[in-house]
Amino acid sequence: MNPHLSFFLFLLLSGVCSSLSAESRDEILRKGKELYNGAGSCVACHMADGKGQKGNIPPLAGSDWLKEGSDRSIAISLRGLAGPIQVNGKKYYAAMPPQLLFDDEKLAYILSYVNNAWGNQEDLVSKEEVAKARRELSQDVFTPQTLLKKFPFDKKYSKKNGTFTPTFDDTLTEITRPVIYRTFMPGASPAAFAVALPGNHYFCWDAGECRLRYVWTKGGFIKSNQAHWSSNGKPVAEFNGTPYYRARTTLLEDESFDELSKTNMQKPIYDTSQADDFPIRLKGLKETPSFLGYQLVEGYPKFRYSLGEHTITELIGMNDKKTGIVRTFTISPPTEAVLQLTPSAFASINCDQGKSKPDGKLLLSAKDSSHFSVLITPVEETN
Ligand code: HEC
Repeated sequence: MNPHLSFFLFLLLSGVCSSLSAESRDEILRKGKELYNGAGSCVACHMADGKGQKGNIPPLAGSDWLKEGSDRSIAISLRGLAGPIQVNGKKYYAAMPPQLLFDDEKLAYILSYVNNAWGNQEDLVSKEEVAKARRELSQDVFTPQTLLKKFPFDKKYSKKNGTFTPTFDDTLTEITRPVIYRTFMPGASPAAFAVALPGNHYFCWDAGECRLRYVWTKGGFIKSNQAHWSSNGKPVAEFNGTPYYRARTTLLEDESFDELSKTNMQKPIYDTSQADDFPIRLKGLKETPSFLGYQLVEGYPKFRYSLGEHTITELIGMNDKKTGIVRTFTISPPTEAVLQLTPSAFASINCDQGKSKPDGKLLLSAKDSSHFSVLITPVEETN
């Protein structure tokens, strides 16, 4: 090639691509795809095919919310979104926590991929755009109202997209099949599930900590469709019950049973990635767990997480009389294990395998660990 021409091309290309460190489009999309599909990333909810989960998690494939530039989707990813939204004409009630795992560059790769995967045709996103938003956006989690005030839809999309006021009674009173919400729960990390089971037992399962956080039965399920704002400006779901069972955590030492059901706690939501008191100890392992996702087994959630090379599943259902919850665990490959339960005057705990100790430890042999169940029932108060 003519040396002048190649120098000219070099200048041109380096100028055009400088903000994306001169990486090719293919390279950017490849990295974005890998990050999108990584553990704990968008894939856990929006799924590999970008279609989301019917009735629960909205799709990214074909979503109008990605249109008209990337400011809106950058803002959602950085700060989260809590409140009912409509995406391409369909309604969703769950909440999305801020995606805190990714630095500016990684989030730019992910959003570039999302913008161009599954038939989407939007712009690439630069790390400068993400950095600017991270600097300038207020720290609060967005509600649909605050988000759409800042990043409104163009008229041609606004009919099928936006927010709405739920018309059904949002305190579920009679539950005939499990109801699962991804929402902000008091005393849990931003990655919590609130689940209602037939028989009206309700629990909070924290994907940030990979553990059951608490279970309650009186007072009804959460009022999940409204964002409630706690004293530190974070949204939390509200419920009126007092948990009959809860897992201890070193991160919330001061919190009493009663405080959990109050929305105005000082620290309703906390970062659980540092929790060092994971209730399952496997022989010779010190690692912390990572959440792998959940599936539904006849409507009941089965959570999956990994600890070292072991995969643990926890399916939560009811006993036949519907008087309590049954947590069925599998550990694979099986290994000697200790499950720390939290005994209290409010619940009785029965395990079908292993040896139970008065301090709540359940000692399991390798054989026991492959499949075991724990029944937790509330103890009637005597007053
Ligand atoms: C824990 C589950 C979860 C994870 C992880 C998650 N989202 Fe979401 N996302 C949601 C939910 C739920 C909503 C709807 C929120 C609402 O209704 O207020 C949503 C909404 C969105 C929307 C707007 C609506 C739409 O469908 O276009 C975008 C854009 C989005 N998410 C992008 C992402 C990206 C990018 C990531 C990864 C960096 C991600 N999400 C990770 C659950 C999740």
